[in-house]
Amino acid sequence: MKVLLQILKWLGIVLGSLIVIIVILVFARRNRTFDAPFPNIKASTDSAVIARGKYLAYGPAHCAGCHCGMADTAAMFRGEVVDLKGGREFILPFGVVRTRNITNDKETGIGRLSDQEIARTLRYGVGSDGRAIFDFMNFYDASDEDLTAIISYLRSTTPVKNSVANHEFNFIGDAIKAFVIKPMGSTTATRSLSNIPDTTAKYGEYLANNVANCRGCHTDRDLKTGGYIGEYYSGGFMMPSETDPAFTYVSRNLTPDKETGHLVNWNFEQFYNRFHSGAQTDGSSMPWMMFKQMSENDLKAIWNYLHTLKPVKKDVGPVRIPTQK
Ligand code: HEC
Ligand code: HEC
Repeated sequence: MKVLLQILKWLGIVLGSLIVIIVILVFARRNRTFDAPFPNIKASTDSAVIARGKYLAYGPAHCAGCHCGMADTAAMFRGEVVDLKGGREFILPFGVVRTRNITNDKETGIGRLSDQEIARTLRYGVGSDGRAIFDFMNFYDASDEDLTAIISYLRSTTPVKNSVANHEFNFIGDAIKAFVIKPMGSTTATRSLSNIPDTTAKYGEYLANNVANCRGCHTDRDLKTGGYIGEYYSGGFMMPSETDPAFTYVSRNLTPDKETGHLVNWNFEQFYNRFHSGAQTDGSSMPWMMFKQMSENDLKAIWNYLHTLKPVKKDVGPVRIPTQK
């Protein structure tokens, strides 16, 4: 009996110390910083470049879908050109993340950042303060031309003063920052595909993977790390409804599998019309209203690309299900 108590006592001390060490490590490491190169990007005042940037920001790259103000969410979903003043909240299991003000305001927006700092955030996922930023923005392999266009557009917008509250993390969030998230960084060599804005599957691949983030939502992922756990484009990624957290949306299988592929019975006209209607599925995170702005050319390219994918048999079930706790 005495021996058992001794063992328990030591076990308690060891466990207790481990917990203390973990807590100390989490607090020491949660604001760790990373290095990444500064891309050689410089904003332009060319009106064609700015127009391309605006098209991307309110269309395929859907910056506005996330960087509008909280109170402008409804206007954004109606397709209005809302200010990119930030503050839209994402309530996640590990905390509340708020989008930043990306208007050109010198105090509260990107007016305080250089073109290269903004480009580094978009390409390498390293914030201006060196933190690894959460993997919301999948523009790591957007081309130099497109990053230039987007930043040129942001520089051309009216500065809006709006200081967004900081993110709030619980202990799990701090632990993720301390040990899990790393800058995602540029991963593939497909950037150059943007130089051919035609309807080919190649350009579609560029848009779908590097700009519009179709892959990021239509592939199952681990919510804690952001890592992919399903086969690309086979769907099944669960996203809590933005209007009613009791429900969750399940992204569709977009691969051309004959039985389970969502698009097998669609023709291009239906695909185009679905996008062109812009009809927002209430509470779904797919920014239909932004994608509505996409040109017929770009939709055709994406359509062609989706049809070159390897068919993956995966029945993702109903589109809207009760949120699993
Ligand atoms: C899916 C939502 C989403 C989309 C789309 C999105 N962002 Fe973000 N953005 C965020 C979130 C969330 C943060 C804060 C991340 C963090 O701090 O970890 C952020 C942060 C930023 C920052 C860092 C600002 C700073 O103060 O350092 C910049 C710059 C930025 N976004 C620009 C853009 C641009 C440009 C686009 C479109 C090309 C875009 N974002 C699209 C969600 C999004
Ligand atoms: C932020 C996450 C997200 C992004 C980005 C996204 N989707 Fe979706 N998508 C969803 C979800 C969730 C659904 C199911 C709910 C709905 O219809 O909105 C969906 C549904 C669909 C549907 C079925 C619509 C219907 O009416 O049956 C198609 C087609 C589709 N997405 C294609 C795409 C393409 C192509 C892209 C890239 C241009 C894309 N999605 C980007 C999350 C996303």
